[in-house]
Amino acid sequence: MKINKLNKQICLFNSDTFSASLFELDYLQGNNLITGSSVGRGTTWFFQHQQKKYVLRHYYRGGLIGKINPDNFLYCGLKNTRAYKEFSLLEKMSQLGLPIPQPYAGRITKKNLFYQADLIIELIEGAEDLVAVLSRQVISELQWLEIGRVIRLFHDNNIYHSDMNSHNIMLDDSDKVWLIDFDKCAQRTAGAWKEQTLARLLRSFRKEKTKNSHFNWSEQYWEFLMIGYQQTN
Ligand SMILES: Nc1ncnc2c1ncn2[C@@H]1O[C@H](COP(=O)(O)OP(=O)(O)O)[C@@H](O)[C@H]1O
Ligand SMILES: [Mg+2]
Repeated sequence: MKINKLNKQICLFNSDTFSASLFELDYLQGNNLITGSSVGRGTTWFFQHQQKKYVLRHYYRGGLIGKINPDNFLYCGLKNTRAYKEFSLLEKMSQLGLPIPQPYAGRITKKNLFYQADLIIELIEGAEDLVAVLSRQVISELQWLEIGRVIRLFHDNNIYHSDMNSHNIMLDDSDKVWLIDFDKCAQRTAGAWKEQTLARLLRSFRKEKTKNSHFNWSEQYWEFLMIGYQQTN
């Protein structure tokens, strides 16, 4: 990871094609580089740059504090910023060969005691998150097994996902399974968090089913996912 400090702005990147203007929405919009967006807590922007596609995300706080102070975090050194942590975790997972989007660049903007942060990662081509897929169609038993196997792969590498839900699992058009959204995630020592992560994911499927009775998920599919998880590779 290369680090570039300029006044109040710190950029992290590992590609020569990086330019800090890619963090500016005005620049992306003004140059017609935006190809789409997804609205969650904040807006995730999709854009293209030199024949490649990327995803730009701004870091937001959750919970009650987030309502008053949506995107300012207390600055406790570069290595403790959200963007630095997620960028380096993505680099580590990439080295481990885990199916995650490649990190492209991070930006930390300091404001007195606080900072704001953004991250750019590569777009996973032809991929859709599991909620989008299951809202439209069923997926095969083999795909459920594969989802379980992939989650297990992360757990065997002691990668903790703090927000393991069905929106953060993606399937591409060759049925490859990807995990995304690694804010506040980390490599940890083994522990009860693995089971808790699975319990959280199960709650997330149940919640989607309650919201939409046509959601193509049932408890039986969870059994397949768990078989995939429990198989030793
Ligand atoms: N690297 C990526 N490639 C393709 N789509 C992505 C990628 N990252 C995010 N998305 C899409 O954008 C949505 C929101 O992104 P995410 O990083 O999960 O942010 P949040 O959950 O905070 O809204 C995802 O559910 C997914 O559909
Ligand atoms: Mg998400």
